[in-house]
Amino acid sequence: MAGVVALTGATGFIGGALCQPLAQAGWRIRALVRRAPDIALASRIEWVRGDLDDVAALRRLVANADAVIHCAGAVRGRSLEDFDRVNVHGSERLLHTARAELRCTRFLFMSSLAAREPTLSWYAASKHHAEEVLRQQSGALALTIFRPTAVYGPGDRELSPLFRFLRRGLLPVPGNQHARLTLLHVHDLVTAILRWLDSSPPAAGTFELHDGRADGYSWQTIAAIAARVQGRPVRLLNLPRTGLTLAAAVNLRLARWLRYQPMLTPGKLRELRHPDWICDNSALAAALGWRPRIDFERAMREGLSG
Ligand SMILES: NC(=O)c1ccc[n+]([C@@H]2O[C@H](COP(=O)([O-])OP(=O)(O)OC[C@H]3O[C@@H](n4cnc5c(N)ncnc54)[C@H](OP(=O)(O)O)[C@@H]3O)[C@@H](O)[C@H]2O)c1
Repeated sequence: MAGVVALTGATGFIGGALCQPLAQAGWRIRALVRRAPDIALASRIEWVRGDLDDVAALRRLVANADAVIHCAGAVRGRSLEDFDRVNVHGSERLLHTARAELRCTRFLFMSSLAAREPTLSWYAASKHHAEEVLRQQSGALALTIFRPTAVYGPGDRELSPLFRFLRRGLLPVPGNQHARLTLLHVHDLVTAILRWLDSSPPAAGTFELHDGRADGYSWQTIAAIAARVQGRPVRLLNLPRTGLTLAAAVNLRLARWLRYQPMLTPGKLRELRHPDWICDNSALAAALGWRPRIDFERAMREGLSG
């Protein structure tokens, strides 16, 4: 099946990575944007100017669309309201608009593995709440929720500093040395989305996604893999717990005062220090026949880390 896809978040990391593969697969893309896009494919995408608050823009976005892929989301904020405004209320508004469009039969919400742990942060709480609201209100629309773990690859800004440190032989560890992390390369996420678009009937439900390494990684494993690939040692750098906690608190205060959207906050630190981000791909593999292909070692070896 190929038709019209209504896409949000096309100017971001994940939505941006999706545009070219979608177009190559024959989909016509209609994308919601708040600012002039600089994506190379611009001419092959119909841009709808507006944001998730703007119901008229959302109607134009979903008109005659076969599917909605909702990648827009707030990943930084200085209050729960900042996250809820976009992740809960914006998503709910988009779902309602899509429900009113008869042609549209499937809706993909890009949630996060963090939704599993809503007490950790405002971000996690907002994703958890958004999932609940969308499940309650999806009606006849086939709703699919993807819960990717930490995603990286070309165009990513959040994990790219970590890769820069690794190339210099250092791995900063923000907390628990024994924590289990999981990762997902953006190309594998894109493949899963394309498979979901082709699934018939649409694979509905809530799915966790990781890179196929079922037992995840420890910080030591990440350092060991990077050392092996680069052919030189990588040293773990334990960031001082109290200093980091203080920095996050100060950053949040400054952000409220100077009105910017902070990344490092006490909530983000709790996410980073959480001991167990192991998750399970098997439901998505069974539903879509999807298999991730790029684990951390391959990404390092082939320069795919971004
Ligand atoms: N990256 C990860 O590791 C990861 C992991 C799990 C889940 N996710 C989820 O995946 C989604 C995409 O993440 P990302 O890494 O691509 O984030 P990103 O690079 O920060 O992109 C966010 C996108 O959402 C758009 N957006 C934000 N607020 C909006 C609003 N009010 N109205 C319309 N558009 C709005 C942004 O538009 P502007 O360009 O105009 O700001 C941008 O296009 C998010 O929902 C995130 O929670 C990401």
